[in-house]
Amino acid sequence: MKVEPAASVQGAIAVPGNKGTSQRAVLLGALTDGESEIRGFGRSADTESAISVVRQLGAEVDGEGETVRVRGVGLHGVREPDEPLDCGNAGTVLRLASGILAGQEGRFVLTGDESLSRRPHERVAEPLREMGARVETTEGGAPVLIEGGRLQPIRYELPVASAQVKSAVLFAGLFAEGGATTVVERVPTRDHSERLLRELGVKAARRGADVSVQPVERIAPFRLDVAGDFSSAAPFILAATLLHGSELLVEGVNVNPLRTGFLDVLERMGAHVAVFNRRTVSGEPVADLEVRPAQLQATAVRVGEVPGLIDELPLFALAAGMARGESVVRGARELRAKETDRIETVTNALRALGVRITPGDDGFGVRGVPTRPKGGGVVDARGDHRIAMLGAIAGLVSREGARIEGIESVAVSFPGFFDLLDSVTQR
Ligand code: S3P
Repeated sequence: MKVEPAASVQGAIAVPGNKGTSQRAVLLGALTDGESEIRGFGRSADTESAISVVRQLGAEVDGEGETVRVRGVGLHGVREPDEPLDCGNAGTVLRLASGILAGQEGRFVLTGDESLSRRPHERVAEPLREMGARVETTEGGAPVLIEGGRLQPIRYELPVASAQVKSAVLFAGLFAEGGATTVVERVPTRDHSERLLRELGVKAARRGADVSVQPVERIAPFRLDVAGDFSSAAPFILAATLLHGSELLVEGVNVNPLRTGFLDVLERMGAHVAVFNRRTVSGEPVADLEVRPAQLQATAVRVGEVPGLIDELPLFALAAGMARGESVVRGARELRAKETDRIETVTNALRALGVRITPGDDGFGVRGVPTRPKGGGVVDARGDHRIAMLGAIAGLVSREGARIEGIESVAVSFPGFFDLLDSVTQR
């Protein structure tokens, strides 16, 4: 598909519900002993993977549009499935479900697509083994075999800053007998799991670098409202920042401070994003955002900032490409463990459009030029939703547009992305 250059983006939009909270709510809803209702559910291939996995485990899921109802099996009622549990492209589903299954009697096999099979899963297997489960990866990747059972609490220091690993251990901690399970994270990562657990009445708390969860005897059914996913809002925020004459309102976005690092970095670069109507919805901070265009200045993203914008670093590279001066990201080796090796795919995508980006071992450098990049090239998404969306925004802000291979991958997190983008684009 060819994305033509645009003059501006104009209008008011809302984006689908936070993917990570939608997935977590389905997984935990399956452990309740009644019917839970999730409103504002973000429908996408990744959240459908959460639904199909809990169905295979015996939960009933129905609902239409943005409302999903989950009838749970109870804390220990999970059924051993006949077929492997297919997590599709969804790392969060495979890793967080692993934490839950470690505490269940039975034998479970988790699989996924080619990308998910290649990603590192020993990082989850290790702490779960320490808690007492039998866990086997396939040369470090998927399929992952889990034989769950009685677990003991552990204190586990994260070797990589990963909310998925933290959440897997915390979810397993719900089943651990005899005390609190603690994850130590030196750099804080997104805390959607902790917030949701507290919302469900579970004792989950942070004290300094320690995040602890107490075991439970049951989880009561719940009602939850999910606000818009910041990572889905981010491409629109960037388009409105880079295109002169834009004026964009994004309503009802989750602004969890551990997720909005991209806003902090953009503001440091000179962006104009007003955050207003702040409120709390189901334990998460939510706001409306108003974005106006700005000329950006280069910046360096610090190591400690990386987890707060890990999924937005591809978009940051584009912002840096149009900022005055040289920008740099270091300490972001984790980019290589995402749906694709994003140091490689971001470099290829932006180079094809004339952005001067240099890949490094654990990040990249960008020599920015404060005008539209040339464009005209081809961006191959390689099945990575975030690269497809990066290509689309890069095409809009370029002089000659961009051809995107594999646009269908946006459905992994945001099936309506191109329709929504069309609805605000002025040419
Ligand atoms: C996620 C955590 C992050 C992020 C991913 C979603 C989550 O991964 O990149 O898109 O829902 O917890 P890591 O925790 O592996 O960094």
